[in-house]
Amino acid sequence: MSYSVKKAVFPVAGLGTRFLPATKSVPKELLPVIDKPLLQYAIEEACAAGIEEFIFVTGPGKSSIEEYLGASPELLSALRNGGKNDVARRLENALLPEDKVFFAFQEHPLGLGHAILCARELVGNEPFAVLLVDDFIHSEVPCLGQLVEVFSKTGGNVLAIEEVPVSEVYRYGVLDPGARNDNLVKINGLVEKPNPEDAPSNLTVVGRYILTPDVFAYLADQREGAGGEIQLTDALARMIGSYPFHGLLFEGERFDCGNKFGLLEATISTALGDPDLRDWLTNRFRDL
Ligand code: G1P
Repeated sequence: MSYSVKKAVFPVAGLGTRFLPATKSVPKELLPVIDKPLLQYAIEEACAAGIEEFIFVTGPGKSSIEEYLGASPELLSALRNGGKNDVARRLENALLPEDKVFFAFQEHPLGLGHAILCARELVGNEPFAVLLVDDFIHSEVPCLGQLVEVFSKTGGNVLAIEEVPVSEVYRYGVLDPGARNDNLVKINGLVEKPNPEDAPSNLTVVGRYILTPDVFAYLADQREGAGGEIQLTDALARMIGSYPFHGLLFEGERFDCGNKFGLLEATISTALGDPDLRDWLTNRFRDL
């Protein structure tokens, strides 16, 4: 099996209930950090990691994601006619080639594991990446690129991981860590959303994965887990021991944009990193 990763799956069927009423009509994946949707940041991260095929698992009420990913000739000509060539160019550059974009449909919100299973036919029999768009990551080397680098040596399953306060572990997949070599941690166990007192560690899974296609067979007979959903974590946990399995304490900072605090933090942090916005923002904070 090849140790390179060419396909990425973006599960984008989630309901986004934490951002209602905004998400009544705007999918949470299209909520912006400054002027770019969360989805676009994840796509750019995947491109930078060498991904060539992009599989989006959408669901009911998510047609605007397909619209966002499509060409918009009327908009481009309106921009050009209005002399906004640079904006038009930026839009064009962000567009993925039509023949590299694929859609799978998850009819019912049965969980992340089920969403990934919906992409089975499109992924086929090769290793693939999964990016959870609401994990927004600032890093020098894009997080997925860091995982690809590790995967090229280890194969198997590679997950981005980070340390969180013990009180927060109930929101994530949590590792039972094995031997550690620098930033690479062997994974001996995985549990989805445990109570803090039952958690095997405070090392948690961040929404970037590289997975062997064998995961689909595990997902196909996976039972409901935490929250009554078919959990990716549960299928992965059953693969431990049969495949190389590592977590990478990636370099960078992750913002959980699945809630408003994270989205606000991501926005402020991005603005502070932008020379055009930084001074304005710090002055405004002072005034306020
Ligand atoms: C999902 C995964 C969880 C992981 C998290 C990262 O949870 O199930 O294991 O730690 O993403 O963001 P969700 O955020 O969908 O509840």
